[in-house]
Amino acid sequence: MEFKNVGFSYDQSKLILKNVSFTIKKGEMVGLIGPSGAGKTTIVDIILRLFNPNKGEISIDGENINKIKINDWRKNIGYVSQDIFLKNDTIANNIKFYNDSITDEEMVEAAKMANIYDFILSCPDKFSTVIGERGFLLSVGQRQRIVIARILARRPEILILDEATSALDNESEVLIQKVIENLKNKITVLLIAHRLSTVMNCTKLLVLQNGEIKEQGSPEELMADPNSYFFKVSNIRK
Ligand SMILES: Nc1ncnc2c1ncn2[C@@H]1O[C@H](COP(=O)(O)OP(=O)(O)O)[C@@H](O)[C@H]1O
Ligand SMILES: [Mg+2]
Repeated sequence: MEFKNVGFSYDQSKLILKNVSFTIKKGEMVGLIGPSGAGKTTIVDIILRLFNPNKGEISIDGENINKIKINDWRKNIGYVSQDIFLKNDTIANNIKFYNDSITDEEMVEAAKMANIYDFILSCPDKFSTVIGERGFLLSVGQRQRIVIARILARRPEILILDEATSALDNESEVLIQKVIENLKNKITVLLIAHRLSTVMNCTKLLVLQNGEIKEQGSPEELMADPNSYFFKVSNIRK
């Protein structure tokens, strides 16, 4: 997927994205970092085609994404944010989530990838355990991993995690971190995070500030430059 000189504003007054260019290769794990309000979620909204860029274009395998039917496009993108929505229903129904074409094998595989399989087997009725208000109560981290399993069960081509670990305690974050490591080289991932530890394993990082990509490179490359945003922020956090 390629962003080429993408410019965007929600209204005419303020430019939110300026000349944003980057590529995400198939199978790559790309981290998108930068301060709050930089425009990271706006980039996601544009990828999901909730908004159209005012300038530039986004292509996939060289073809403008607008040429692809919106439903086909969205089917191929898995999006996980901080919002964790679970139904008061069985774990299985929460993973299959109205999509009967997902087989039990696919559900199990997705649960394993999401690092929640062993936990599910330890629940009273395994995949048939009812969770939620009137059922078995789960921690935020367990809920988040079920949501990730739900998204993975749809077998998206690209997975976008938008601050998906921000609301989690450290222990749960470590478990999600393992999920992310599991996904490396299996699926294309765009990982938006404000904890730098989360993006250290990415193949490439994009640093967004005020709607502009200020730096891009591997974590090692950015760390080697004492003037980089990445270097400065990682030293503040230490
Ligand atoms: N729907 C919207 N309408 C107008 N402005 C918005 C909207 N969503 C976000 N913004 C503004 O766009 C800028 C970038 O926001 P966002 O992409 O959410 O940043 P980030 O995800 O990096 O924190 C912010 O200044 C924000 O206030
Ligand atoms: Mg955001």
